[in-house]
Amino acid sequence: MINVLVFPCGSEIGLEVHNALRFDKHIELFGLSSVSCHARMVYKNYLEGISFYTSETFIEELNKVIDDNKIDVLIPAYDDIIVYLSEIRDKLRCKLVTSGKEACDISRSKIKTYELFKGEFFTPRMYEAENIRENDLPLFAKPDIGQGSQGIMKVENMQDVQALKRVDEDYVISELLPGEEYTIDCFTDLKGKLLVASMRERRRIRMGISVNSATVVLPKEVRKIAEIINEKVEFNGVWFFQVKKDKNNNFKLLEMAPRVAGSMSTSRIKGFNYILNSVYQVMGYEVCAIPNLIEHVEVERAFSNKYIIDIDYNYVYVDFDDTITYQNTVNTVVISFLYQCLNEGKVLCLVTRHAKEIEESCKKYHIDMSMFSEIIHIKDEAKKSEYVSHLDAIFIDDSFRERYDVSSACKIPVFDVDGVEALLNWKY
Ligand SMILES: Nc1ncnc2c1ncn2[C@@H]1O[C@H](COP(=O)(O)OP(=O)(O)O)[C@@H](O)[C@H]1O
Ligand SMILES: [Mg+2]
Repeated sequence: MINVLVFPCGSEIGLEVHNALRFDKHIELFGLSSVSCHARMVYKNYLEGISFYTSETFIEELNKVIDDNKIDVLIPAYDDIIVYLSEIRDKLRCKLVTSGKEACDISRSKIKTYELFKGEFFTPRMYEAENIRENDLPLFAKPDIGQGSQGIMKVENMQDVQALKRVDEDYVISELLPGEEYTIDCFTDLKGKLLVASMRERRRIRMGISVNSATVVLPKEVRKIAEIINEKVEFNGVWFFQVKKDKNNNFKLLEMAPRVAGSMSTSRIKGFNYILNSVYQVMGYEVCAIPNLIEHVEVERAFSNKYIIDIDYNYVYVDFDDTITYQNTVNTVVISFLYQCLNEGKVLCLVTRHAKEIEESCKKYHIDMSMFSEIIHIKDEAKKSEYVSHLDAIFIDDSFRERYDVSSACKIPVFDVDGVEALLNWKY
């Protein structure tokens, strides 16, 4: 078993790490966060309250978490933390999933990145604020050390140039790239070979995150860029870079990073688990890739809702028609919940007014009747509440009348089908 710790686990990267590793039988996953975050809903082993990484006691506290949980591997999941931990990795009492200090340091700075590749066909032309003339415009400016598109701006007129001269932060000013934008998810093996490079278009970006991303075939020029970067920078395991097309349709480099990208899942679903393989690689295993036949994967992202409901129950009374079933099929949300209950040792009771033989109908839907401890098939006018014999229970039914009856008579929580998602447990 490999014990893997993710910090900070609530970042977009931390949540993607969870998605990538949660079901692996060789990995026990732990999430660590300084502040309360969404990860509390998905990490089974969730640890909160470590000081910020800028605190003097941080390393000591981190090593205590590492010791207490026998952590083998730490995955940093935020840009500044990657750089910081790559610098002090000797002080950590476990292995660190990231490239060497130099690769992290160069990647963190766009100026250092562009300097390293000066003269290459894919490096955007850079400008000094002092030397910009009106006919150079429009240009593009962004912080030298930035993330999530914070502080980016189009430089459209000389007033913008003046404003840039006044900011304290270091900015990189470069040619404006008006074309499509892509991320290339990469993996470098222990011998320094570029094992995988998978390209996806960032089609819709909100708050710096690709909320729509779709894989595309990797063009020759972009493979060449990947090879050149991989040759010059010593990456280990997972990394990525971004390109955008200039006005002549040529790919130009935006940035590179020694880490998982937030929407890397598209490439992962295509068949190569970058994070899992990075973990294996730091543990000393040789990894290889399956040449996969899936060409197109598209991801659509949005906020996700997870709920905390203050109820305790051991029994679930559940209706059949239009509750477990949906338009002549099985409702897969409801059936997932029912299996979750069985996993947790809860007791399921089917309470139905089904018009046909319930046994036959269960068979038709491939539902095994043994999942129900009790099957109450009501064939008269009796109320469902008369059959609720346990009060540490919930009742799920699509009928308002039945819910009203059970709620009033038994005083137990009742749910319509839409509410079942709130009962799902996402912790792995
Ligand atoms: N030269 C440029 N021309 C046009 N848009 C750019 C340029 N550089 C960056 N951008 C836009 O700004 C966003 C952020 O830039 P990027 O280099 O990826 O930094 P970060 O993701 O670290 O904020 C990009 O996703 C892209 O949409
Ligand atoms: Mg970016």
